[in-house]
Parts: sequence; structure tokens; C-alpha cells
Amino acid sequence: MRAISILEPGGPEVLSWQEAPDPVPGPGEVLLEVAAGAVNRADVLQRLGFYPAPEGAPEHPGLEASGTISAIGPGVSGWSVGDQVCALLGGGGYAEKVAVAQELLLPVPAGLSVIEAAALPEVACTVWSNVFMLAGLKPGERFLVHGGGSGIGTMAVQLAKQHGAETVCTVGTEEKARRCVELGADQTINYRTEDFVQAGEFDVILDNMGAKYLDRNISALAPGGRLVVIGLQGGTKAELNLGKLLSKRASVHATSLRARPLEERAAIVASVRENVWPLLEAGIVRPVIDRVLPMSQAGEAHQVMESSGHFGKILLKTGES
Ligand SMILES: NC(=O)c1ccc[n+]([C@@H]2O[C@H](COP(=O)([O-])OP(=O)(O)OC[C@H]3O[C@@H](n4cnc5c(N)ncnc54)[C@H](OP(=O)(O)O)[C@@H]3O)[C@@H](O)[C@H]2O)c1
Repeated sequence: MRAISILEPGGPEVLSWQEAPDPVPGPGEVLLEVAAGAVNRADVLQRLGFYPAPEGAPEHPGLEASGTISAIGPGVSGWSVGDQVCALLGGGGYAEKVAVAQELLLPVPAGLSVIEAAALPEVACTVWSNVFMLAGLKPGERFLVHGGGSGIGTMAVQLAKQHGAETVCTVGTEEKARRCVELGADQTINYRTEDFVQAGEFDVILDNMGAKYLDRNISALAPGGRLVVIGLQGGTKAELNLGKLLSKRASVHATSLRARPLEERAAIVASVRENVWPLLEAGIVRPVIDRVLPMSQAGEAHQVMESSGHFGKILLKTGES
């Protein structure tokens, strides 16, 4: 098969589309003939050498993919050769083939193409597990997501709104603000010119900035509020004012999806299938796809992501590349 290899830590030019050994599905795994993979911020970190693949995961980048099952390993039940699926991966999505544990598969939602489905597993699982399973966002609560125009943000805005939360997001441009309102955001805050702490108190905050926003995020929490940090774009170390946290009876969580044991990821995928998939199949929530590039142009896709030139997901398709 062909796959994207990271030749050495560095810029987008180190992503090379080249021959690689075909994966072989082990017990409980299927082989996926990849139609498309998707780009995540974590892939940029992996390319730079800061976020190596967890033990046992393929070396090639790519945390999600969609395609057709072409072979079945021993002990797989409920999936067949020819099924069109998408999958949450520990790595290996930037490739023509990838072996996936059966528990991490999801069917292509009715009404969506197999390519479109590549935009879903990582954002649906991250948002669902953090905002709903962990932080327990309830109807009528106020929700803030930083980076409303990101892959994560576009899913978080839609799901929070659909669940009856008052939904606010930060964005870097007026164009992204307009598009987030189209997705259901009740209010947007331009992080370049406005301070989100002035926008009232929030019951749940989904944060991508880490250290840079920690203190202001806690200031912005309502009594009983839940801050969930999933990204460290603004650094890893900051002072935590426990007094402020204590007086609000608030909590701070920090989580990573990729490093979780298979059983935990499987439970998240099952909950996403039960709770998010019906909304996708009803057309109430949709994947937001900025562009689809050939997988051989993964470097160009990373450049777009690093310059924040996208809204939603960037996909990489295997055909004609
Ligand atoms: N822990 C996990 O399991 C997990 C899983 C998936 C993703 N993540 C994290 O979630 C975040 C989003 O991932 P993604 O793949 O969807 O990335 P992405 O599409 O590249 O989005 C990055 C976002 O950061 C925003 N941003 C930049 N500077 C900001 C600032 N000062 N204040 C607020 N927002 C700012 C950008 O906003 P503009 O474009 O408007 O400038 C953009 O929306 C990343 O930090 C990623 O690492 C974590």
C-alpha cells in the first residue's frame, strides 16, 4: 500500500506519500480499504516530533478514516467484508489500508457518503465523551467552546445547541463567527478583540488553549461549572487558583482520547453510535468539511491547518493520488 510517512520531525515537507507494508488484521480486527482520512491538530504535533504514536499504534499519522472493510481477522462478529464504515484510530489513517479493532468501527451514517464519514469519528467521540459523558452538559445550561471554527468546535456547537444548551464560541475571524451562528451558536466572541470573561458565566467550557486560558476560564465558570481542557495550544503550565475553584465548587478536567485503553475508547464509540449517530442520520447534525485533498497532498493540508485557513475538517482521500 501507499501511506504518509514522517521522514523526520519538521515542517509539512517531511510528509512523504510512499510505499509501506500492508497491515494485517489481528484477532478482533478488520482491514479497512481507506477512502479518506482526516487531519487533526494532533497530527501536526506528531509531525513536529512532539506526539509519538502510542505503543501498538501504526507509525503513520491519522486518527480517523473511512472506507470499506476488505478483510476480517479472527474473532470478528457483526461486521462483514464490503461494509462501509468509519473508524477511530490510534494512528494509521493517512494510508490506503489500516487495521482497526472492531470496537472502534461505526457504520457510515445513512445519507452521508463514505468520504464525508471520515470527518466524524474523532470530533464526535471527543465532543461527546468530554462535553456530555464527562461534563454532563444539560439543557438550559450555558456552554462555551473555544475555537468554534475548528473541527472540534463545529461539532461541539451543533451538539450543544441540539441538546438545548445556550451555546457560545470563540473565533478568530468575523467570517468564522458568521458560520458558527449558521451552525447554531447563540453568540460568538472574537478572541482577538474581545474577552470571553465579559460574556457571562458558563456551566461547561471546552478548552483547546490550556495554560494561556486557565485562569480566565476559571473566572468564566459558573458555580458548579466544569472546565474540560482537551488542547494545549497555549502551553502546558500555569498557576491554578484553587481558591477561585473552591468558592465556585467548580472542577477542571484534562483528557486525551488517543491514549485511552481500548475498552474506554470502545465505550465512547458505542455511546456515540447510540446518541450522535441518530442526529447525523436525521440530518440534524452534519459534518462540516472545509476541503478534500488527495492524500499525497497531506503537507498542503497541514499548512492550511497551521495557518487556520480552514473551517471544520480537512479530509485526505486516497483515490487519484
Ligand atoms: N484531548 C483530545 O482527546 C483531543 C481530541 C481532538 C482534538 N483535541 C484538541 O482540540 C483542539 C481542536 O482540534 P482540531 O483538530 O479541531 O483543530 P483545528 O481545526 O486546527 O482548530 C484549532 C482552533 O484553535 C483556535 N484558536 C487559535 N488560537 C486561539 C485563541 N487564542 N483562542 C481561542 N481559539 C484559538 C482556532 O481558531 P481560528 O481558526 O478561529 O483562529 C481554531 O479554531 C486542538 O487543540 C486539539 O489538540 C483534543
